[in-house]
Amino acid sequence: MKDQYGRTIDYLRVSVTDRCNLRCTYCMPENGIELYEHSRILSVEEIDSIIRAGARLGIKKVRITGGEPLVRKGILDIVRNAAQTPGIESLCMTTNGILLPEYADRLRELGVERLNISLDTLDPERYASLTRVGSLDDVMKGLRAAEEAGFTGTKINTVLLGGINDSEIGSLASLTKDRDLSVRFIELMPMGECVGWPEESFIENSAVLRALPELEPVSIDGVSRLYRLPGAAGTVGLISPMSSHFCPSCNRIRLTSDGRLKPCLHSDTEIPLKGLEGQALEDTMRRAIFEKPARHHLNETHQSETHRNMNAIGG
Ligand code: GTP
Ligand code: 5AD
Ligand code: SF4
Repeated sequence: MKDQYGRTIDYLRVSVTDRCNLRCTYCMPENGIELYEHSRILSVEEIDSIIRAGARLGIKKVRITGGEPLVRKGILDIVRNAAQTPGIESLCMTTNGILLPEYADRLRELGVERLNISLDTLDPERYASLTRVGSLDDVMKGLRAAEEAGFTGTKINTVLLGGINDSEIGSLASLTKDRDLSVRFIELMPMGECVGWPEESFIENSAVLRALPELEPVSIDGVSRLYRLPGAAGTVGLISPMSSHFCPSCNRIRLTSDGRLKPCLHSDTEIPLKGLEGQALEDTMRRAIFEKPARHHLNETHQSETHRNMNAIGG
C-alpha cells in the first residue's frame, strides 16, 4: 500500500530477537543489554499473523533480522511460515554469519532467497576486538557454507568506522574480484552505543570512492549505489544514510521482536501490535504505514531520535 506521501511500502523487516552472539562495539554495550523477557517477545505464531496481515496490505518482501536471527528459538519455523505466506515474493535474512555452517542448508531448503552477512574487517585480531567475542574464521566458514548451500547474490555489510577499518576498504572490496558478492559500505549512524563516539569515527562513503578511484558506477539497488572494480565478478555498494538520506524513496517498515511496528528506523514512534488479531491487527498496521514519517533528521541533529540500540531494531 502507499503511505501519506505516496511511497509504496512493500518491504517488512522482522527482528526476531534482540539477542546476539556477538557484541560489536558500535552496537551493543560490553556487558550486553537488558534483554527482553520471553513473555514480551512475539511468539512464532504472532510473527506469522503479523507477516500475513502485512502481506494483505501489500508487503511483498520480508527480511528476517535480529540481534542475530539464528540464535532465536524457533527460527526455522518462523522462516518456513514466512516463505509460505501468500503474497510474500522474497524472503531474505541479515545475519552475522557465525551460525551459518549449521543453518545455511536448511534456510535455503525452507525458501530463504538471499543472505546479507555483516563483516566489518578481514583482520582476525580486529574482528575479535570489534565484536568483542567473535572469530573471523567462523564468519568465513559461514560465508563458505552459504555458497555451498547454493545461495547467490550474497551481500556483505561493512560499517565504515573511521580510524578502525577505513584502511581495509581495498581488501574488503577485493572480495568481489572473483566471487559473486556485493560488498556494501554503510555509513555509521549515530544511534545507541556509538552516539558519543568521536567525530573521526563517522566518515562519509566518499572515502570509498577516494580509496578506489577505479570503481565504475553500475546501478542503484534499493538503498545502495552499486559500483564495480574493473573486471570483477561482484559489486561494491555504498549505503549512505548520513551523507545522502534516502527517505524519499523509502519502501520499508520494521517490526521489533517485542511486537512494535516502527514505520521509520530513526523515529521513536512505535505502534504496539502484540495482542492484536484479525481485522484489528490489519487496521492498526494500515494506519501505521499510512502515517510513516516523511524523513529522518540524522544529518542535522547527529543523533537518532530512536532510543533503541541497533540490536533491538535489526538494521
Ligand atoms: P537488500 O537490499 O534486500 O539486500 O537489503 P537491505 O539493504 O535492505 O538490508 P540490510 O539488512 O542488509 O541493510 C543494510 C543496512 O543499511 C542496514 O543494516 C542499515 O544499517 C542500513 N539501512 C537499511 N535500511 C535503512 C533505512 O531505512 N534507513 C537508514 N538510515 N539506513 C538503513
Ligand atoms: N550504523 C550503521 N549500521 C549499523 N549496523 C549496526 N549498527 C549500525 C550503525 N550504528 C549494521 C550492522 C549490520 C546491519 C544489520 O546493521 O553492521 O550489518
Ligand atoms: Fe550482533 Fe549485529 Fe549488533 Fe554485531 S551489529 S552485536 S552482529 S546485532
